[in-house]
Amino acid sequence: MRKKIVAGNWKMNNGIEETEKLIHAVTNSIASLNLENVRVIVAPSFVSLTTAIESVKNSHVEVAAQNMHQAKNGAFTGEISAEMLVSIGVKTVILGHSERRQYFGENDELIARKIDAALANNLEVIFCFGELLEERKLDNHLLEVGSQLKNTLFHLKPEDFKNIILAYEPVWAIGTGETATPEQAQEMHAFVRNVIAKKFGKEIADSVSILYGGSVKPSNAEEIFSKEDVDGGLIGGASLVAVDFVAIIEAI
Ligand code: 13P
Repeated sequence: MRKKIVAGNWKMNNGIEETEKLIHAVTNSIASLNLENVRVIVAPSFVSLTTAIESVKNSHVEVAAQNMHQAKNGAFTGEISAEMLVSIGVKTVILGHSERRQYFGENDELIARKIDAALANNLEVIFCFGELLEERKLDNHLLEVGSQLKNTLFHLKPEDFKNIILAYEPVWAIGTGETATPEQAQEMHAFVRNVIAKKFGKEIADSVSILYGGSVKPSNAEEIFSKEDVDGGLIGGASLVAVDFVAIIEAI
């Protein structure tokens, strides 16, 4: 059975004090929930990762990084390698987020190399992809997402998928308050699962978790999560507010 996952991408928010506070608020609130088939992940900034890892000890919450560099090491001022993340106890990393694509020039080719580096270091990858508003308006959203998946994942081996979580994030729904309708999310998630099934087989497609991200909040989470191929959410803004994040976890 596919795991349900609620992941909070904190983006460039929260120093170490806020990290501790927010994690403790979340862990205390979810302690009594039955989360047997549900993973809860938070992704703080690099400087707060160690504090976060300390704070989640003995709780159901896991910690992910938001990015990493593709090289093993070297003259890449300001960058962080997979090995460095592993050295502090990180097990999961978000790659390919649309903000990395939009503001830092990351493209499919680079993201594919990052995925390779992460997997080579036994890091689990939350791989993000999604179409722009123009692409949706032109009814090219499936084509665009199909091409992103092909460019970044098709060189992988089937066994790599045990360390891959997919996250569909339509760019027009990120931080805008505008959410994809549950039907739009389901259409895309079913399409993605089908693309993976055709290339890697049904068993892998059926076992990979596909998250939806883009203005998920307590008021819309349950409806989106109720769709067959939506296995959880990658939450931005609402993951910074403990009661909202917990409500979204309860919704799943
Ligand atoms: P929002 O939930 O703030 O729209 O952000 C979604 C996101 O980008 C998660 O990675």
